[in-house]
Amino acid sequence: MVEDAWKALADPFVEGAYATVKGQVRTYVLHQQLLRHLPPPSASVLDVGGGAGHQSLPLARLGYDVTILDPSTAMLAKAEERLAQEPSEVRSRVRLVRAAGESAVEATGDRRFAAVLCHGVLMYLPAPEPLLDVLCRCVEPGGVVSVMALNAATMAVRPALEHRWADALAGFDATSETGVLGASTRGDTVEHLSALLRRGGVEPRAWYGVWLFSDWMDLPLADTDVEAVAEVELQASLRDPYRQLSRVFHLVGTGGT
Ligand SMILES: C[S@@+](CC[C@H](N)C(=O)[O-])C[C@H]1O[C@@H](n2cnc3c(N)ncnc32)[C@H](O)[C@@H]1O
Repeated sequence: MVEDAWKALADPFVEGAYATVKGQVRTYVLHQQLLRHLPPPSASVLDVGGGAGHQSLPLARLGYDVTILDPSTAMLAKAEERLAQEPSEVRSRVRLVRAAGESAVEATGDRRFAAVLCHGVLMYLPAPEPLLDVLCRCVEPGGVVSVMALNAATMAVRPALEHRWADALAGFDATSETGVLGASTRGDTVEHLSALLRRGGVEPRAWYGVWLFSDWMDLPLADTDVEAVAEVELQASLRDPYRQLSRVFHLVGTGGT
């Protein structure tokens, strides 16, 4: 872990992507979906590739015991900054661990967690298998594994929205694309990740979309009722056919006994 690949992306991601309607919708929708599955606070949560803690700090505020694990010093520095703005009781519930997700078992002292999150990470890795295997090993019996990945089934959507028609045509059979932050990203399918979870002893329970309309429209933060958009997006994420068209999906499973 000599190079911090996320050093250049930390600012655009934390200051840019999250400060948009789409970013806020993503946090809200994923949070609501997670609450359907998580055991009550103060259960332990491991956020693998947790970055600046956008998804797990709200859980710490609710009383969950949160460990954010990430290989990027730059992203953990952002998490540190955001944590410093929290009340002391929230701060006391969050630990930051610098390690690659693939080393999470060793980096957490072989601890098992009531919930293991991994959101927006698999798309940056060449293959999902090594990390998914580790996620399954980190969850306690009956605990929750929550994965958000790029949807390989909807790769034509973004180039089409950007009027790049040749790329859109190629997108129907593509498995990777240049993501919004400029990095190369790889898509997964619900079916394949479900099979990998099963192989790791985790039973898939539900899958959801994440955003749809806010992805298709340019919604300026200043003129948008974000709460209203988020409620619509939550409903779209829960049901067909809308969830199938989301460019990312959220898959939740539970560990066996
Ligand atoms: C798009 S950010 C997502 C952050 C966070 N999960 C969220 O939902 O806000 C991707 C994160 O994955 C981390 N990452 C990259 N490679 C990783 C790996 N092999 N294991 C764990 N995290 C990794 C990056 O450092 C970065 O913080």
